[in-house]
Amino acid sequence: MQPTEIKKNIYWVGGVDWDIRDFHGYSTPSGTTYNAYLLTDEKTVLFDTVKKPLMGDMCAHIKKIVDLEKIDWIVVNHVEMDHSGALPEMIELIKPEKIICSANGKRALHAHFAGSEDWPIEVVKSGDEIKTGEKTVQFMETKMLHWPDSMFSYIPEDKLLISQDAFGQHWATGWRFDHQVDFGRLMHESAKYYANILLPYSSLIQKLLSTVKEMGLEIDMIAPDHGLIWKENPQAIIDAYDQWSQQACSQKAVIVYDSMWHSTADMARAIADGLQEEDIDVVVFNMMHSHRADVITEVLDSRAVILGSSTLNNHYLPRMADVITYMKGLKPQYKIGAAFGSYGWGGESVKQLEAELEEAKMEIIVPGIKVQYVPTEDDLENCRELGRTVAREIKKRPVCHK
Ligand code: FEO
Repeated sequence: MQPTEIKKNIYWVGGVDWDIRDFHGYSTPSGTTYNAYLLTDEKTVLFDTVKKPLMGDMCAHIKKIVDLEKIDWIVVNHVEMDHSGALPEMIELIKPEKIICSANGKRALHAHFAGSEDWPIEVVKSGDEIKTGEKTVQFMETKMLHWPDSMFSYIPEDKLLISQDAFGQHWATGWRFDHQVDFGRLMHESAKYYANILLPYSSLIQKLLSTVKEMGLEIDMIAPDHGLIWKENPQAIIDAYDQWSQQACSQKAVIVYDSMWHSTADMARAIADGLQEEDIDVVVFNMMHSHRADVITEVLDSRAVILGSSTLNNHYLPRMADVITYMKGLKPQYKIGAAFGSYGWGGESVKQLEAELEEAKMEIIVPGIKVQYVPTEDDLENCRELGRTVAREIKKRPVCHK
């Protein structure tokens, strides 16, 4: 990899992690990047670092532009270790004049790194700015996007927003810019990232987007800490974040199930048929073969979530517990739900799944269906009818809630 000049005298100097396949529970089959940026002016400034094992790559990129010792200031936009893992060694190596972060950032640095009490930390807050020479860096705190310490850095001379986690994707690629990759895939990876990382903070993102609009912030480029840089079409990701953070729902349903002897699987397919008969988009996940991160990506813009499981030892199946726990933590809103499943003698799973839907604040709009052992043709018709009922309810609901 080479450093890439993204604006005059501002460079991508990050690391590409081709190997990572799990990012704290989020499946990353295409790896990720940790994007660090270097501004060279009268002062030389590094924005964030990389995960510790990628430090050598970042330093090699920087050395192609300036000597490491030339770095005067390090801006820590986000303390999570995929961006600060290399920080202690970098500080040791370059002895910067200043390490700039939010007040929460300072607390988080102290909680992560022994000896950081001696670092020359300068705390900034929203509205503060620093001059680097010809350029200015303005700061905006973005608490909980993704952590309490998070902040944006904005360079008005270039209309460049360095946005740390926000607007990113987990996608390792040799390309650096949005226009160099397939746009559909880029938006899918961005949606997956939003659903798995930022969904619980949607109301804060709505507020942030309003603030940015009120400030009249001109944005020509968005440089996130992961994935591709939004050079040609930054508005596309701003508009998508507006939709996702409103938790807008399309006419779509997700069926998530696990099955022991294929009976619950047959029921899932019959429910999907009922939804399709009513022209509703449907995605079906068998949790034996699916990952929770892909489920939540499809749940993001779905109106209905339909859960199915056979009963095993008086409970729904363990793989369902995994995806339900994950989904509840990410707090999708405005969903309707239903449950189904087969059983042998106890048959507790459907009631338990309904209780989970209620706990997730999903409105149950039709009683669940449970079938003993193997569904008959009548049972499957009941499942198709459940699908049609959910479909009719989906059509009654508005897409947006704003
Ligand atoms: Fe990319 Fe919240 O760390």
